[in-house]
Amino acid sequence: MDKQINDVIILLCKGISNRRLYFPNHPKVISYAKDFRKELAVFFEMSEKEEFFIGIIDGHFIFNGQRLFGPTVVGRQLIQFMEMLQCGGVSFRKGLTIEDISTFMDLTDGLKTSLKSLQEARELFKQRGIHAITLAGHYSDQTGIDAPDNKRPWEGQEIGGFLQSPTLVYQALFDVVTRAHGDAAYNRELDIDSARSVSEFMLRFTQSNFADVMQYIHYPDYDSYTIGHSVRVSSIAVFLGMKMGWPEESILAMGTAALLHDIGKSKILSEILYKTGSLSDDEFRLIQEHPRVGSELLLAQKEVSPLDIAAAWGHHLRYDGRGYPQKPAWAVRSSPIALLQICDVFEALTAIRPYKQAMDPQHAFSVMIADKGAFHPSLLSVFISFIGIYPPGTYVELSDGRIGMVTGVGKIIDRPQVKITRLYDGTRLVKEDQYDIDLGAMDRTSLSLKVKRLLLNYLDAEQ
Ligand SMILES: [Fe+2]
Ligand SMILES: [Fe+2]
Repeated sequence: MDKQINDVIILLCKGISNRRLYFPNHPKVISYAKDFRKELAVFFEMSEKEEFFIGIIDGHFIFNGQRLFGPTVVGRQLIQFMEMLQCGGVSFRKGLTIEDISTFMDLTDGLKTSLKSLQEARELFKQRGIHAITLAGHYSDQTGIDAPDNKRPWEGQEIGGFLQSPTLVYQALFDVVTRAHGDAAYNRELDIDSARSVSEFMLRFTQSNFADVMQYIHYPDYDSYTIGHSVRVSSIAVFLGMKMGWPEESILAMGTAALLHDIGKSKILSEILYKTGSLSDDEFRLIQEHPRVGSELLLAQKEVSPLDIAAAWGHHLRYDGRGYPQKPAWAVRSSPIALLQICDVFEALTAIRPYKQAMDPQHAFSVMIADKGAFHPSLLSVFISFIGIYPPGTYVELSDGRIGMVTGVGKIIDRPQVKITRLYDGTRLVKEDQYDIDLGAMDRTSLSLKVKRLLLNYLDAEQ
């Protein structure tokens, strides 16, 4: 049931993000609305309920009193919309029509400023003829839990607050990259300072909870994957910089540059960028322009660092000098860019995209090793040894049937440290009961155990 609830909300969130990319009655938008309605009908039938209620507390979706992890990551736009409506939740009732859903999605795109009160929001819904979707009051009205304010959850936060929640870190990262791409597309000035501050949040968080951060990395986001990709490349690069003992300043600079490295893609038509079929030569050439476009765009910004520009320009350049854009004889590659290029390719191979499944890390490493001359050889081997075959944050099934999250790569590459989250019989352990096993310790408890398989899709393991 949990997985089904997640899927229903994710469908709605995807519909909303597509509504922002396309026009209102675009077939893609309508098909999300239809799928959402279909899945809801299944929910009504199975649960024998008359309504489907999603709450919002502290910038998270809540269902039946539980925080929903996956939908929260992909549902920022819906969460922000609900916050602008001054409401603490939304209820979809049986009898919901496609028109109700499409009008709801249109509103999420059309509303530019917060409304004054929930009453005003309810009036708006009435005026627009939305019947089967109703808005609920804040949780504070009902349960005493503080309602969220209208700010983005990360704005004005001290770094300390972030160390409590990977969701906050991830929402902030997505938010900053989404805004940067939106601003770039409309030739507005970029907020590079924000990119720098969220990089710092990420660095602080990664220092203590890398595995938690990496969990989010595996969350598939099909519709805005340039944004997710930039966030993931940046997280991996920060982790590697940390593992290699680079000075904090350099790691921060690299994290920021990585967040913005594909900014040039904001100037490419989404029809080409997100095309699922094969690209024509002209389309391919257009995509190959993004490093040049991105670096020119960054050059015009005030707060930009030389590394930001170099990363945007050089991240598709190979170690042997091939790749694109064409490298002038005087150009020299720095280690951060060489590392970013490795992280960029690794992320692209191991991520889920609408047109492909994720490749497991071991397979990705063999593809990268086989591509002779593509990568800085010693950086690539350091990269492999730190990420491992079972990277931190991924879920694995052990040979005895227990499931857990990899928390660290040990000395033996296929024997990681694992935090057990499910027992042999599938019982899910609450946080306090989860415990660690170090397969690399080779003691009596771990010797007979090994990793049976990698569970690439986080939801498969956790739901
Ligand atoms: Fe790129
Ligand atoms: Fe990239």
